[in-house]
Amino acid sequence: MPEQDVATNGRFYWGSATAAYQVEGSPLADGAGSCVWHEFSHTPGTTYHAQTGDIAADHYHKWPEDVELMKNMGLNSYRFSLRWARILPDGTGVVNPRGLSFYDRLVDSLLACGIEPFVTLFHWDMPSALFRMGGWSNPDVADWFGDYAAVVVGALGDRVRYWMTLNEPYVVSAEGHLVGNHAPGMRNIYQMGHSVHHQLRAHIAGYRAIKAARPGARVGLAVHNAAVWPGTGSGPDIAAAERAEGWHNFPMFLDPLVHGRYPPALEPRLRPFLPVGYENDMPALQVPPDFVGINYYHGYYVRDTSDNWLGFVEVDGPEAPRTKMNWAVRPEGLHRVLTQVHERYHLPAVFITENGASYEDRVVGGAVHDADRTAYLKSHIAAVLQAKREGVPVEGYFVWALLDNFEWAHGYSQRFGIVYVDFETQERTVKDSGRWYGELARAGVPPQDQELSAPSIGS
Ligand code: BGC
Repeated sequence: MPEQDVATNGRFYWGSATAAYQVEGSPLADGAGSCVWHEFSHTPGTTYHAQTGDIAADHYHKWPEDVELMKNMGLNSYRFSLRWARILPDGTGVVNPRGLSFYDRLVDSLLACGIEPFVTLFHWDMPSALFRMGGWSNPDVADWFGDYAAVVVGALGDRVRYWMTLNEPYVVSAEGHLVGNHAPGMRNIYQMGHSVHHQLRAHIAGYRAIKAARPGARVGLAVHNAAVWPGTGSGPDIAAAERAEGWHNFPMFLDPLVHGRYPPALEPRLRPFLPVGYENDMPALQVPPDFVGINYYHGYYVRDTSDNWLGFVEVDGPEAPRTKMNWAVRPEGLHRVLTQVHERYHLPAVFITENGASYEDRVVGGAVHDADRTAYLKSHIAAVLQAKREGVPVEGYFVWALLDNFEWAHGYSQRFGIVYVDFETQERTVKDSGRWYGELARAGVPPQDQELSAPSIGS
């Protein structure tokens, strides 16, 4: 099939993504309630140089300029998240009309520019009021989330067609509740297990609320992925890789939704930490999403070990270039993950909802020459298009991120944007990668003179 048929504008979404707490700033403005990331980042010792999302990229005020930027770049879609506590300051109950109106105006403006909104309901910013009631460990969180979804679909559902309930529930559970380097900063394996299960229940409540109001809406979720390869061909190492995939990647959340059970490779180890009686919820969780959003950045190799509860340890793989996050650049891993997700579930559609890289960027003479990032994007997009040609129903690709932003515990030390943000002046500069990506988006196909480098798809 010629490239033209694979990725023509109109049938394929070329977009970029952001998340509310990372770009908006003004976390308490206009009646908004606090969220766990606000409290976490204001807690001494949690983030790089004690940085917070108080100002971030000031998207809360500069969104008209940012929409204009996307339009001028030629992007046809924008994935962003809603901040729950902006809309419901206490997480439930009374709606804050000023919070809702921010997103309402943003959606109108995107549509006026021909940019399709892809809305995520939860990108990690649990309202503080709900956190104090147990947050993701309180079984009632499913109802709270369902009610929130009903409010936002009631307000935006006449214009928004694509919804993601949760972003990377794995990270919320693992980093927020087990490792503790993300909000709410817990280190409790039982809180981790409960948060996995109740995020799934919340996803279903949100899915049902959106579908009840807008049966034609397409509702999915975005999941974390890192390609995992076994360090050797031995049986124990292959089993270790399966456990690592179950834990880090789509299976922990998609196996329940599609197959009605936790991943067999993982469940025996996860079971002690899940809520008592979780098995009774499994039939109600078995509702396949309309699409899955794949977030992908890097890949790694593992071997079997008995030294930790999951029974795998990362080992050196073949040499690969590294990003500023020290993540190994393995575009073939994106092809691997896309193929795996399709073979395991056969969902109607797949989107790459995040893919990108952090590098050391500098503005020189009004430009940012980020050749590494452009090369990263080219090789990963080539992997996506190859998977699509081979039959994976990929319908869109979103670069992470539109703007440099608050990179969670790393603060502003990591720049993922295709648009550079000077955090002193809030001035935006489209990076070379953004110019290249914009050309691709406008054409719908890789520009003739800049062939995408095909990754070596193998093991
Ligand atoms: C998250 C983003 C984050 C990105 C880069 C993803 O896990 O969804 O919020 O900025 O990775 O670390």
